[in-house]
Amino acid sequence: MTTTKQSPLEIFKHLESKLSGIVPDFELKLKSELAYEINLLKEEMNAVILGHNYMEPALFHSIPDFVGDSLELSRRAAETDKDVIVFCGVQFMAETAKILSPDKKVLIPSQKAGCSLASSITAEDVKKLKKSFPGVPVVTYVNTYADVKAECDICCTSSNASAVVQSLGVNQVIFIPDEYLSKNVAAQLGYTIAFPDVHSKEFQPEDFSEFQMIGWAGRCEVHEKFSVEDINSVRKQFSDVLILSHPECSPEVVEASDFSGSTNAMIRYTSESKASKYLLLTECSMGDNIASENPDKEMLRMCSVRCPHMNQITLEDTLECLKNSQYEVHVPKDIANRAARSVQRMIEIG
Ligand code: 13P
Ligand code: SF4
Repeated sequence: MTTTKQSPLEIFKHLESKLSGIVPDFELKLKSELAYEINLLKEEMNAVILGHNYMEPALFHSIPDFVGDSLELSRRAAETDKDVIVFCGVQFMAETAKILSPDKKVLIPSQKAGCSLASSITAEDVKKLKKSFPGVPVVTYVNTYADVKAECDICCTSSNASAVVQSLGVNQVIFIPDEYLSKNVAAQLGYTIAFPDVHSKEFQPEDFSEFQMIGWAGRCEVHEKFSVEDINSVRKQFSDVLILSHPECSPEVVEASDFSGSTNAMIRYTSESKASKYLLLTECSMGDNIASENPDKEMLRMCSVRCPHMNQITLEDTLECLKNSQYEVHVPKDIANRAARSVQRMIEIG
């Protein structure tokens, strides 16, 4: 993080200490000027900047007051006493911040920062699921829009999904919308899981009464691309590599990895383990972001797999965001109130 008190040169020195060898100095100089202007406006507007672990390295190491995974940033959004929250992440994350802090102004630097998981399910789909399985609690991954969260009983993130499911203490749960995350949770808890097509004419809810989890076939367009073949090929080329995968990867990929966890959990694991080479099966920026904290460790990269949504957020757009107070996130009050219950319930579980 950098502060308002730092000049562009001091910001450059800070970025250089974190990113020399990863980003050319020339680029860092330009980014330092932008970060300097952003810091001034941030103070003027009494704003807090939250940055997801997937932000590009120069942004990640300069302007956010807090960086972290979805769960940590939700907590930060709920706790802040600032007037404005600038969310350097995707739309559903900024919406979650608004749900938790309805009286604050929440801004997101780009309107194009969506998410394939959030787009995979609608509030109508959830209503149909609830009608088909009356009384069965619905757990939603936070990677959904506010109207979907409003229809659900409790949210979860990749760092607490199994704990949330277990906390319900019931025989059957509906878990939406990530097919792979739900399969990974089911495998971890030893639960049976099925993915009924509730919109098909042949769908009969009774056919699924024996399953402990009812899932939804949404996918993350980034994590679904990693395969066991990729892992085998990397291991062949680099025999001493440690492979970490996000739980949005397929169960086969998770099984073939050395560790699986949320973005924060992957960062922690890398810093605590002794191996000399790592491959993170997730958005490529993560490897660059943690390289400076792990100078003796080599981060292998598979950067042809990127999140096109997270990559919409740049320092340039963040500066415009603060200058023009754009783009403000709005969530209708009734939806926000109902969604807040699901998110708060999750935060209480931790
Ligand atoms: P985390 O909650 O692990 O930060 O993941 C969010 C996400 O969108 C991963 O693709
Ligand atoms: Fe959504 Fe996948 Fe991008 Fe995460 S990485 S924001 S789940 S599309």
